[in-house]
Amino acid sequence: MIDIVNKVLEHISAYQKKQTKERIVIAIDGMCGAGKSTLAGLLHESLGGNLFHMDDFFLQPHQRTAERLKEIGGNVDYERFREEVTDHLVDVQGFVYGVYDCGKQCIYRQIQVKSANINIIEGSYSLHPYFEDKADIKVFLSVDSEEQIKRISNRNTKEQVNRFIKEWIPKEKLYFEEYDIPQKCICFDTTHCKMVSEKAAGSGPVIGLIVAYSKNRVIGKDGRIPWRIEGEQKRFRELTTGNVVIMGRKTYEEIGKPLPNRYTIVVSNTKKFEAENCTTVGTLKEALEIADKSKNVYISGGAELYKEAIDIVDKMFITEIDAEIEGDTFFSEFEEKDFHREVESHVDGEIPYTYVTYTRKHG
Ligand SMILES: NC(=O)c1ccc[n+]([C@@H]2O[C@H](COP(=O)([O-])OP(=O)(O)OC[C@H]3O[C@@H](n4cnc5c(N)ncnc54)[C@H](OP(=O)(O)O)[C@@H]3O)[C@@H](O)[C@H]2O)c1
Repeated sequence: MIDIVNKVLEHISAYQKKQTKERIVIAIDGMCGAGKSTLAGLLHESLGGNLFHMDDFFLQPHQRTAERLKEIGGNVDYERFREEVTDHLVDVQGFVYGVYDCGKQCIYRQIQVKSANINIIEGSYSLHPYFEDKADIKVFLSVDSEEQIKRISNRNTKEQVNRFIKEWIPKEKLYFEEYDIPQKCICFDTTHCKMVSEKAAGSGPVIGLIVAYSKNRVIGKDGRIPWRIEGEQKRFRELTTGNVVIMGRKTYEEIGKPLPNRYTIVVSNTKKFEAENCTTVGTLKEALEIADKSKNVYISGGAELYKEAIDIVDKMFITEIDAEIEGDTFFSEFEEKDFHREVESHVDGEIPYTYVTYTRKHG
């Protein structure tokens, strides 16, 4: 994937020289499982700016009429994407757009974005003719069908894989053909590329830490997380799905069962939890030793594990909860100067929060 990133970066730099245009839009369309979000995440890490996901614009239940679903390219809310995003990329004051959650079947939060010179759009239908004219650099990713199903199976339930095969893959195929999408793009086949998950991407799988803490660094109270914020867990789900999570015994007991579509390693010296995709070890070191090295590993609390992990992780994915919250378990202070801090996005609401990534400085 790194080779593809470098080629796309070359295209972008050639385009910028030729067009002398400051604000550019890079659209990454292509087959599901081809690595669009991985490529977008790597480009975003390298270039900064805004990153938009077409997945956030799935049709809402009331829009899924038989007529709409018959339309080629109609199973994405392209009208809303244009109204809320592409029409506003030039707004210097920034703009707000809604994020659709397929599980909850609703637009469950609003994201405030700043105006940026780099705007990356990723996902199937990101070159829909309704807003395709906004894209300056058009990229198409493909993958052979066997590898495609393998990748999709790694991060979805059996039922979802069946829906991909019967419904979503044929629909996107029709859309690519009807609108000649690959013909308009720089194309890459990713069949033999090694995929790494978005944000955590870089030279290879990472050891990360993922936590949400309040202004006064609270992570827990009475064995639970002392806030409920609709949608705040989305990044946790996105990053950890298909990967490995390591957690302390109390955190595991709070959840009560292994998380689906991930491998859970519990650290405990008093109890043993063994199940499909779940095991127990006695130390963090052992957990890291047995974790699948081809996957990203996320240390997911609680306080004791975090404290031990801060010195070894490559990245920390932190949700800064913008409120003082009462609690009894805290996230340790750490040397901020050892990390690059990058704000990913800010979400307003009753309790606002910000997704921040800390990447360890090397050398
Ligand atoms: N806000 C967030 O992002 C977040 C995330 C996770 C958890 N939490 C909250 O944090 C709280 C739980 O944290 P916690 O610190 O009390 O408990 P914890 O770390 O989840 O569990 C502590 C237990 O895990 C084992 N353990 C932890 N670190 C170990 C180590 N380095 N070596 C060996 N064993 C280790 C021990 O189990 P044994 O006693 O069995 O040996 C220890 O008693 C809860 O309130 C939870 O809701 C918040």
